[in-house]
Parts: sequence; C-alpha cells; structure tokens
Amino acid sequence: MTLINAVGIDDIAIYSPGHYYDLADLAAAHGIDPAKYTKGIGQERMAVPSPDEDIVTMAANAVAPLLSDGVRDAVSTVIFATESGIDQSKSAGLFVHGVLGLRPNCRVVEFKQACYGATAGIQFACDLVRQRPAEKVLIIASDIARYERGSEGECTQGAGAVAMVVSANPRLIEIHPQSGLFSLDVMDFWRPNHRSAALVDGKLSIDVYLRSLTEAWADFRRKGGLPLDAVDKLCFHQPFTKMAKKAFGALAEAAGPEAAHLGEASYADSQVYGRLIGNTYSASLYIGLCSLLDNCAENLGGRTIGLFSYGSGSVGEFFTATVRPSYRRYLRADAHRTMLDARQRLDDATYAAWFYEVPKQVEDRALPQEAAGRFRLAAVEEQRRVYEEAI
Ligand code: HMG
Repeated sequence: MTLINAVGIDDIAIYSPGHYYDLADLAAAHGIDPAKYTKGIGQERMAVPSPDEDIVTMAANAVAPLLSDGVRDAVSTVIFATESGIDQSKSAGLFVHGVLGLRPNCRVVEFKQACYGATAGIQFACDLVRQRPAEKVLIIASDIARYERGSEGECTQGAGAVAMVVSANPRLIEIHPQSGLFSLDVMDFWRPNHRSAALVDGKLSIDVYLRSLTEAWADFRRKGGLPLDAVDKLCFHQPFTKMAKKAFGALAEAAGPEAAHLGEASYADSQVYGRLIGNTYSASLYIGLCSLLDNCAENLGGRTIGLFSYGSGSVGEFFTATVRPSYRRYLRADAHRTMLDARQRLDDATYAAWFYEVPKQVEDRALPQEAAGRFRLAAVEEQRRVYEEAI
C-alpha cells in the first residue's frame, strides 16, 4: 500500500475574460457616489464575458496551462462546479474534456450548490486521492455572476474560472481532513431555471453568510479542528471584498482571544484579484486562494491558511490547509497579472448588450470573434454549442 504523506492542491490557474466594466462607469450610469462601490463594497471592476465566451471557454482557458503530459495521463476524474450551467442535462465538464482532449477512461460530473460547489469537489477529490494515490482529480469552478440591471446586486457582478489539480504529495497546499459544516434551507439568493439573472435578498444573504461562518467554525472546533491562534492567513468566499472584512470581524468575535494575532493583513492579499474581477460564485474562494499565494510578499511555506466556503441557500464549510515549502516555484503569478493587465475597458452600451442581451439569444447563430482567450464558442448549430481553439 502506498504511503500518502499529504493530499491537497498540486497546481492552480485562473482565467477571467479580456474585457471589464469599470464600477466608476456604473456609478455614473446610476448617478451615485463611486466611493460606495470602491470603499463601501470594495470593488473596482467587473469582468464581462464577450458573446463568444461562457463557463466552458473560461474553464478551458483555466485548465489548459495545467495539462502537462503527466497530469493529462493521471486525471481520472473531472469535477466541474458551477451555478451558471449551460445545459440542464450534460455536464459542462464534458465540453472541456472534449475541447482539451482529456483521456477517455475518466469520470466527468457537474456539482451545484451556489458558490459552495467547488469546495464539495475539493473534499470529494481529496478522499478519492486518499483511496487511489496515483490518480489526480481536476476541479474546475467557472461562473458568471449576473443580477438584474439597475439592482443593488449589479455592482457585485463578475465572471471567471479557476482550475486545480488535487493529488497526493501536492506542491502547493496540503488540505487537512477536519472541516466544520453548516447547512440551512433559506431563500437568501436563488435563480429559477427560466432566469439568467439571480434573485437575492441582499441583507439576508449577508446575515446568513455570517451565521454560516460562525456555525461552521464552531463545528470545526468541536470536531478537533485547529484553534485560530494556529492559523496565519484567512481566505473567505468573496462576493465583494468588503464581505471578507465583515467575515473577519465575525470570526474574530467568535474565536475571541485566539484571533488576537490576526488583522486585515491576514486576508488582504486574497482580495487583489477579486477586487478587479468581481464575484465568480463557485470560483471566488479559490481565485482568492490563488490571489493570496500569488500576491503575498511573505514566504508562506509551512504556514496555515483557514478557508471559509459559502454557497447561498445555504451551505458553509470551514477548513484549514498548510502551504508546502517550495510552493512559490509552481505559481503562475506573472501569467495571471499579465492577463488582468491586458483587459480592455467596455463602454456602458457594450457592457449592457453583452451582459444582458446575449443570454436572451437562444436561436442558432455564428458568433463574432471577441474573446481574448485561447478557447471560444464559435457557433450554436441545431441547438448544439460548438467550441473552437481560436489561436
Ligand atoms: P446596498 O443596499 O446597495 O448597499 O447593497 P448598502 O446601502 O448596504 O451599502 C453597502 C456599503 O457601502 C455599506 O457599508 C455602506 O455604508 C457603504 P457597510 O455597512 O456594509 O460596511 N456606503 C458607502 N461607503 C463609502 N462611500 C459612500 C457609501 N455609500 C454607501 N458614498 C449588497 C449591498 C451587498 C446587499 C448588494 O450589493 C447585493 O445584494 N449584492 C448581492 C448579494 C451578495 O453579494 N451577498 C453577499 C453574501 S451571500 C454570498 O456571498 C453568496 C453569493 O456569492 C451567491 C452564491 O452563493 O451563489 C452572493
């Protein structure tokens, strides 16, 4: 029997579309003070998918850099987490499997529970790898966060994907087996099948998020999870960066003196990408984790991260992870920064057309080439989505 020293995230890459809408322009369009968005909500920009981008193309762009020969041969399971699915039946992961030519003897499945789905994927993946350490699991989270035009939620929109390889003896972070859980049937945020924009009770959603965090934390400690004084950095599900500040306050209050050594610096680096991309639902927590690893000036090797995943409706999970000593060698920080720096700003009319009119188009069509990434949706033919490698 193979001895497994650790299981966790071996590799991570993010992708966000090549276009964005500036929240200063949104503030001007709504006639409100831009400081409400930049300071009150803590967001600068929202990523906007072009008409030839969707959760599949964003996912394929995130996965592609991870596929060295060794990984391609070892991926036995693909878990695709999303709450903005493109098909009620077929897993979005199968389109990615096809466009990237993954091995056929592989299981592919889609997970949904609002923003929480990828964390369920990570936990299932860790257990699969504990059983069969030679195998690797590919976790993809990809979402477009869309609310009604003119609604309070509009400033928290965004789009992006994250791809992670879960393996034995991972190069980036080891995930600890303990986790604290809290589930509650509540209508804080939902999207009936006929709608492309989510419905939300914003204030309730913040209250339930914070309750979920403190309850999951209490469950984590009851089950023997680490005390907060053993945690060096924190990473919260981040619908907008101000939410992490609220989460930190609630956790610090619940943990009492254990939290004395932690402050804003413990989660600030996890917010760099989210502030520029916006909410990416299932991907948000892991884009935050990637942001922390890529942007933290301190060497995090050997340090412990506390992670809180929240998905409305609702499920919360608190767990911890230890950063591996040589993690810096395997990050893609330069590629991520280059991608975000190269984005183009959209005017109000283009943003509105791409974000709100495109989802209404259900007829067969060829799509104009606008996507900045390597993969794009070329056409819809007889209600079949046709993807292509653009460059
Ligand atoms: P709102 O009512 O427009 O905002 O909605 P507000 O009036 O509450 O103001 C927001 C903050 O800006 C306040 O600060 C104001 O004081 C401040 P806070 O009290 O929160 O610290 N403010 C200003 N600051 C500086 N200068 C100014 C100024 N004006 C006001 N001039 C809300 C805000 C977040 C509710 C809305 O955007 C919304 O509904 N968003 C979507 C829901 C959401 O993101 N919920 C988060 C928790 S649920 C979750 O995370 C799950 C989710 O990701 C979905 C999933 O699981 O799938 C959403």
